Amino acid sequence: MVYAARNELPGRISAPTLAAPAAEPNDTGRGDTVVAHSATLEIDERVRARRAAGQPVVHLGFGEAGLPVLPSVREVLAGAADRNAYGAVAGSVPAREAAAGYFTRRDLATDPDQVIYAPGSKALLFALLAVLDGDVVLPQPCWVSYAAQAALAGRGVIPVPIPDEAGGIPDPGRMEHALRAARAEGRVPAAVILTLPDNPTGTLAPAELVDEVCALAEREDLLIISDEIYRDLAFQQGDFHGPATVVAERTVITTGLSKATALGGYRVGLARLPAGARGMTLRTELVGVASELWSSLAAPMQEVARHVYGEPDDVVDYVGRCRRLHATVSKAVHRVFISAGTRCLEPAGGFYLYPDFAPLRGRLGGTGVAGGADLAELLLTRHGVGVLPGEAFGDDPRALRVRVATSLLYGETEDQRWQSLNSEDPLSLPWVAEPLDRLRQALAELGKR
Ligand SMILES: Cc1ncc(COP(=O)(O)O)c(C=O)c1O
Repeated sequence: MVYAARNELPGRISAPTLAAPAAEPNDTGRGDTVVAHSATLEIDERVRARRAAGQPVVHLGFGEAGLPVLPSVREVLAGAADRNAYGAVAGSVPAREAAAGYFTRRDLATDPDQVIYAPGSKALLFALLAVLDGDVVLPQPCWVSYAAQAALAGRGVIPVPIPDEAGGIPDPGRMEHALRAARAEGRVPAAVILTLPDNPTGTLAPAELVDEVCALAEREDLLIISDEIYRDLAFQQGDFHGPATVVAERTVITTGLSKATALGGYRVGLARLPAGARGMTLRTELVGVASELWSSLAAPMQEVARHVYGEPDDVVDYVGRCRRLHATVSKAVHRVFISAGTRCLEPAGGFYLYPDFAPLRGRLGGTGVAGGADLAELLLTRHGVGVLPGEAFGDDPRALRVRVATSLLYGETEDQRWQSLNSEDPLSLPWVAEPLDRLRQALAELGKR
């Protein structure tokens, strides 16, 4: 069986879909399981290969925070090198206390027992899907791995289009219809995943929509999985409104150090479970999965987590600088896409944009571009711009939408990235300005040759 994988021509940009597990064109017929290479990791490898072959590429394909390690984090990690013992599955008490403090400072009073660490929030999202008792509602489009993980865990997906205002959340009206239809078919909806702020759209769902989805989740008795890995990168921190403040008893938050503190390779993720009976049951189930899959987050990384979630001044300052840089550069890239004639919501957090090239469909007529995958391929192979097609995020394959990640524009070297982070005017730095110019040029030439 193939799990959420689309047929792949060698080296072509392709993607998992929001389809429930199904035999797909690349089913091996051997009854074994094939999971497609994650589309985001695949584009990164293709861009690297093209660059190694001497072909310049503006790399807008990979959601890596693209910034250097904070010195205090490096010191804590080095000092923890002798932590070689296995530890508690959920994480050490000091690391869980630090995370509880992080949430409590964000108006979510948290007991350390509500916290579980893992090697990346991705692992916890999978574990949550694995212990669900039914299907999961996903915004369409949404982050690449939710649908693939749901398929791996044997969970059905109920895709619901996002509203016009923002991504990361299903449109509440359409969600209500989709739930009714799913129940009529005998399916059992059990959860909904929200992404606040969102990848792929770079937007932040407004409070009213979050409240509507919370009310619906309450009526339908759904668990809300709130993926808040970009929370500290919401450009206006005051605009953030998460479900845990509305329906605390049914909300699990996942987060980690991969984005706001640019430590993706450290693989530090955590879940904040609800207080009370539902939370304790989930804890038991998640600890069970974790104990069989990863045992615990690596002990030295738990020390890093303890340090970062303690939020000393240098961490707070660093996250603030990261947020400002991501905001400045993603808004500049947004202006480039708007000037080129695409439609695109203004980014509000993280480091992504989701332009729609529909207004340029006429111009693209002679290129054979029929959908997002063709468009991404054309941008990469003819114009040297690496992006991911919307269909990698479960979007309609015919739509001319692509996901643009802006965080690899901060420089090629550590020194350049520090300068970008510390600059009052990062757009004037040559290593930021130059790829932006190339992007402008590429979009101006699109469809013309
Ligand atoms: C929305 C979203 N959730 C989760 C993750 C995975 O995070 P982690 O590094 O904690 O596994 C990513 C990383 O790209 C993401 O964009």
